[in-house]
Amino acid sequence: MSLSFSSSALVVLKKRYLKKDKNGRVIESPEKMLQRVADSVARADKDFDGTADIKALAAQFYDLMSKGWFIPNSPTLMNAGRRLGQLSACFVLPVEDSIESIFDSLKHTAMIHKSGGGTGFSFSRVRPANDKVLSTAGVSSGPISFMAVFDAATETVKQGGTRRGANMAILRVDHPDIEEFIACKDDPGFLQNFNISVGLTQEFMEALEKGGDYELVNPRTRNSVKTLNAPKIFDMIVNSAWQSGEPGIIFLDRINEANPTPALGEIEATNPCGEQPLLPYESCNLGSINLGKMAEGGTLDKNRLKAVIRTAVHFLDNVVEINKYPLKEIKEQTLATRKVGLGVMGFADLLIKLGVPYDSEEAVALAHDIMSLISEESKKASAQLGEARGNFPAYAGSIYDRPETPYMRNATTTTLAPTGSISIIANASSGIEPIFAVAYTRRVLDGEKLHEFHPLFEEMAKEQGFFTEDLAKNIALEGSIQEMTNIPKEVRRLFKTSHDISPDWHVRIQAAFQKYTDNAVSKTVNFPHTATREDVEKVFKLARETGCKGVTIYRDGSRDHQVLSVASRS
Ligand code: CDP
Repeated sequence: MSLSFSSSALVVLKKRYLKKDKNGRVIESPEKMLQRVADSVARADKDFDGTADIKALAAQFYDLMSKGWFIPNSPTLMNAGRRLGQLSACFVLPVEDSIESIFDSLKHTAMIHKSGGGTGFSFSRVRPANDKVLSTAGVSSGPISFMAVFDAATETVKQGGTRRGANMAILRVDHPDIEEFIACKDDPGFLQNFNISVGLTQEFMEALEKGGDYELVNPRTRNSVKTLNAPKIFDMIVNSAWQSGEPGIIFLDRINEANPTPALGEIEATNPCGEQPLLPYESCNLGSINLGKMAEGGTLDKNRLKAVIRTAVHFLDNVVEINKYPLKEIKEQTLATRKVGLGVMGFADLLIKLGVPYDSEEAVALAHDIMSLISEESKKASAQLGEARGNFPAYAGSIYDRPETPYMRNATTTTLAPTGSISIIANASSGIEPIFAVAYTRRVLDGEKLHEFHPLFEEMAKEQGFFTEDLAKNIALEGSIQEMTNIPKEVRRLFKTSHDISPDWHVRIQAAFQKYTDNAVSKTVNFPHTATREDVEKVFKLARETGCKGVTIYRDGSRDHQVLSVASRS
């Protein structure tokens, strides 16, 4: 069965993805968009094999996307087969300790945002505020004031005239300006186009465990300038995260333990949503398998899943090939490692179809099963491509440079993206998140309110005879069905939303997926408004203990402008 686009999907597609004429009229159907993407991505095979059956391959790609089984990241949908041709979602740019480097990166950021990509930066190399500036005998402004410049530029350049640019700023915990950085988003109006994360080091984690001090180092002189108490800084991070949802934390030591190409340098930053650690000038294109569509008759169809994984890796490697890179440096660095990030969406939908509650050991076991399969099959697919097309150029000295893995086309194959937009297009639950709501209120154009169920819930309510006209409205108002005794207990257990799931289960599911993911996992650990700072601290520690590469939390109602609220998802 082909994908029937929901009304929300059509709104999103028309607004940002489909071709328009010069008067802004949409001149492409969603099917034509998928055909455009399939044709242009399939054409890359000609580079390797003059006799390749491009038509058959395009039909295969079209089939996967039109069934809603696999969807590539937004820039690929928007730009493949079009003049812009920039297909990646994720970029990291270097920020060195000089005005030239900082403002070069600012320009490159604007170019990337214009093409629909997001940018991540480490500001850790920038000398602290009030440090010496030798050339002018003045004092430096420090990382946070430069971040404000990037923020202002982002505000001005709307991505491709469509989506607003997104940024990530990372600062190492041993940077002298770390205290200011931790608190910089406590003011909700400041740096609205940035996510921020503190880069935690092994030295810091050890000091934290011992309850001791650690050293701050000036990146310009490499001298230790001060010591701080690790538990005190950790408390500051917890406090700000509790207050505003930011900063997140990333574990730099763990990210670098998994760096597939250590010979090319250390990884210092990630893309905007945190799921893609990258070297400076590296970019990565992502794609997600819709797990909800991988179940048939209440069981997971592993053969279908395997076939989709193989075709998806082929698709993503072709995207690396045909991508029009916004900069020479980005082209060189990206083609050296050829990183791709295959992940999933619709995990919560799959669980419901299989009758497995999200907060259960069975769900954790399933997450392990699915992600280990994706890891294994995607590596096999990449190895086959490596044999046919050649290894990624930085293979020598990489973690794959050993007799057991003679071929590998891509330095990474797996990433778990948030799938914020493509899950709407595919009508799937986003990424590996629990369902967001059991029923929504949608405001239609004339201001009228429509109440809509989660489709699987509606099906079950009708089947089991508890469907009523008022039910959707009541649920949309309440947010949660956990206290509604007129709904069978097993149904309530299955339809827990992200707010009903306790934070430790959020982390355990994240950790289960992370275990088999080359890159990282985008996940927000949701807390109720009443959560305490201690609750947040526990989750940060649990994320470390369970092998996560980082963690982001959100306490309900802690930001003024919550993007989606339970009662109105319009
Ligand atoms: O669903 P979609 O493909 O649009 O994107 P996503 O999975 O929600 O986000 C994947 C990555 O795309 C993010 O981590 C960012 O690097 C980038 N992105 C962006 O630059 N701007 C946005 N508004 C959303 C995502």
